[in-house]
Amino acid sequence: MDLKRIVCNSIKTDLLSEDELYCALTLSVDEKNGDVCLPCFKLAKTLRKSPMMIADTIKACVVENEYIDKTESVSGYLNFFLNRTKISEYVLGEIAQKGEEYKPFESNGKTVCIDYSSINIAKPFHIGHLLTTVIGGSLYRIYKYLGYKTVGINHLGDWGTQFGKLIVAYKKWGNDEDIEKRTIKALLDLYVRFHKEAENDESLNEEGRYWFKQIEEGNEEALAIFEKFKTITLKEVNKVYDKLGIKFDSYAGESFYNDKMQPVIDELNAKNLLVESEGAKVVNLDEYNMAPCLILKKDGATLYATRDLAAAFYRKQTYDFDKCLYVVAYQQNLHFKQVFKVVELMGYDWAEKLVHVPFGMVSLEGMTLSTREGNVVFLEDVLNTSVEKVKAVMKEKNTDEEDGVAEKVGVGAVIFYALSSARIKDLVFSYDKALSFEGETGPYLQYTHARCRSVIRKAGEVEGKFDLSALDSSSAYEVIKLLNEYDATVIEAGEKYEPSIISHYLISLAKAYNKFYLENRIVVDDKNVTYTRVLFTKYVADALKNGLGLILIDAPNKM
Ligand code: ARG
Repeated sequence: MDLKRIVCNSIKTDLLSEDELYCALTLSVDEKNGDVCLPCFKLAKTLRKSPMMIADTIKACVVENEYIDKTESVSGYLNFFLNRTKISEYVLGEIAQKGEEYKPFESNGKTVCIDYSSINIAKPFHIGHLLTTVIGGSLYRIYKYLGYKTVGINHLGDWGTQFGKLIVAYKKWGNDEDIEKRTIKALLDLYVRFHKEAENDESLNEEGRYWFKQIEEGNEEALAIFEKFKTITLKEVNKVYDKLGIKFDSYAGESFYNDKMQPVIDELNAKNLLVESEGAKVVNLDEYNMAPCLILKKDGATLYATRDLAAAFYRKQTYDFDKCLYVVAYQQNLHFKQVFKVVELMGYDWAEKLVHVPFGMVSLEGMTLSTREGNVVFLEDVLNTSVEKVKAVMKEKNTDEEDGVAEKVGVGAVIFYALSSARIKDLVFSYDKALSFEGETGPYLQYTHARCRSVIRKAGEVEGKFDLSALDSSSAYEVIKLLNEYDATVIEAGEKYEPSIISHYLISLAKAYNKFYLENRIVVDDKNVTYTRVLFTKYVADALKNGLGLILIDAPNKM
């Protein structure tokens, strides 16, 4: 139910168009300002009237109806008080329809591609990948819920001269047993060692270039070693994806585009977009205040951008997407602006459907991370540490570990922490903050959910009839209005590519329910009241569980 629409439909005025009016309305934050509010300050300029006068004029235009109890014009704001009974009945009726597991919106026939996580082969899957992985994974679920067909793409970093270097290191110092045991960590050590030794021995770099050429030319030995690196990395990374409940529909990475770039280069040529610059071939973007987009190096080698161009065309042809999202750190802002611009200059209007979804950097309480130096914090280790900490707390409190609760809470805490602030902000990860049961955390939400389930379990089978008077309180009404906002919240999160909007919403819902719970006994003598409050509790639990699912968090029934 759209409360703003109800208000909008109740006003008959020539002052503003229906659209203008609807856009100007806001949901009230404080109950003393009613449910919906029309702030008139912004309108004052265009309407050339004082805000007070506008509020009064519109107040006089409100057509009486059963949904609106009263309106109040207070110093430039027009506040609408809706009929709580009517609203509650309607909203709870809608919620009842949703059932326990919310069904996605009807399919809209559109496809969204989501390029996320996009790890690099033979490189650690570290805490820096946390945001792309969980933001992308969450957007995947959000868009699915909104009725899109979703394609999750892990654009593997599996091309480049570094793989030649790694082969050299592997052939010289590699030890299969160690690699078998320590997987990516062993590969990382080889990589670090290569760079150390190459500082004093330029011939190593030469060899590296040679072996990369062997990969390019399809030398069997080179390819076999390279495949091995790939298998090891993916096996390792998949462990983390399993923990996070993430799956990809495609692992077409950079090397996949080896044979798909030439047609794009030819087309760039044919459209006179390629120019020479110090021997390299670039698309000049001076006019757009951007550095040129590098397409071919002096030696004819292709680049990251060349592969991304080929990938954009491939995705368009293969999936006919309505949107193609790239969940990649803001450090690559320029790269994506360049690539999207080149697609546009090639004359394709779908360039506007390519969207870079940037996010900030992650660090671990003051540590700086550098792959080359080898001081890396592995994402898997962060998840494991978090789970261990939860286990320790549970042991201290003598709580039995059931159904992998510690795993769900430990992992959920990390995910929620990552998705709790606006994605563009840099994130300093802290176990203490993430794992706290108080404040705005994953464990707090999971705990509220588990408490709801426990209330329901303890109440047992209740025979009774629905009685709205059992929910006749400000705190219940607050919860009802929040339940009503569920879909609008998911839509907004999708439109803004911002899972944190759902995180905030869930926190508000949990807080509102906890207030209700504090003020009201659920199980009382009156059967109908009990029945109604238990059902209400179930609605909240279901909303929390479904909402947490959208941000990749499991909600255990007991904690
Ligand atoms: N592997 C890249 C990196 O770690 C991210 C790739 C993002 N996706 C893309 N289509 N460029 O920086």
